[in-house]
Amino acid sequence: MNEKIKKAGVIGYPIAHSKSPLIHDYWIKQHGLNASYEAIDIPPPNLEERVHDLVDQGYRGFNVTIPHKQAIMMLCDDVDTLAEKVGAVNTVIVKEDGSLFGTNTDVFGFVENLRSAAQGFGYGWTIAGGPALVLGAGGAARAAVQGLINEGVPEIFVANRTFDKAKDLESMSPLVVKAVEWDKRDIVAGRVNFIVNTTSLGMTGQEPLEIDLSGCHEDAVVHDIVYAPLYTDLLKQARAHDLRIVTGIGMLLHQARPAFHAWFGVMPDVTETLEDLVL
Ligand code: ATR
Repeated sequence: MNEKIKKAGVIGYPIAHSKSPLIHDYWIKQHGLNASYEAIDIPPPNLEERVHDLVDQGYRGFNVTIPHKQAIMMLCDDVDTLAEKVGAVNTVIVKEDGSLFGTNTDVFGFVENLRSAAQGFGYGWTIAGGPALVLGAGGAARAAVQGLINEGVPEIFVANRTFDKAKDLESMSPLVVKAVEWDKRDIVAGRVNFIVNTTSLGMTGQEPLEIDLSGCHEDAVVHDIVYAPLYTDLLKQARAHDLRIVTGIGMLLHQARPAFHAWFGVMPDVTETLEDLVL
């Protein structure tokens, strides 16, 4: 008997560069599932029509990437509070009645990656152990800030080139999140337990991220969500100062886990083999 194939995918525009098919295909094979995961190119004007097509074709759900992460919220019948707080949906689950449920797994990916990295540090560092500095104020920054709020970080400084965008993030938790001037990032870096770059700076082909980590506390952890290159100049500088680092690939892998679970009923693991495959 041919059991019906469970279908999922990722929608974006352009989508060819997406690593998600590689990740989900690996888990589909690993768990021997009768399932598929495809990259689906959807130009913005066709979003609504094409999403309805996917529902008609029996898709169990899909990931959502640039530029649809905000627009998809309007098409969802229900969006959970986490996605609402982040202001973006990156995962859609098609319910049995064909309605669309939107959530955001980037927050989970961000926190799980940090937790798993912290286990390897061999000293008592915790995410909530002190203030944090977030560089950037875009969609990735919002997911990171929400993750830090959920973990109970006492003070979160957000430094962004455009100060007003950093200021906007304060409403996520007014007593905890504080916008700081981009020019003050070196000083603030010296006062925190954790630093994360969520900007595109330092990515292959982009401008470098200029920051001075020489004043950092010796226990501070430095994380870059950029994963191409894996060891960015920020992480190299952190290592040169003997600071602990967390690379960006783990967030990408961990954010995929709850989506896979929601569509296919199995919570997959992040392994070194998967990491090597994606890199
Ligand atoms: P994402 O959703 O991936 O976070 P985004 O919303 O476009 O992408 O955000 C990109 C971030 O990188 C922003 O914080 C942006 O700063 P601005 O808000 O001032 O645009 C930051 N960024 C991009 N290029 C930058 C540069 N040359 N110098 C400083 N920050 C930069």
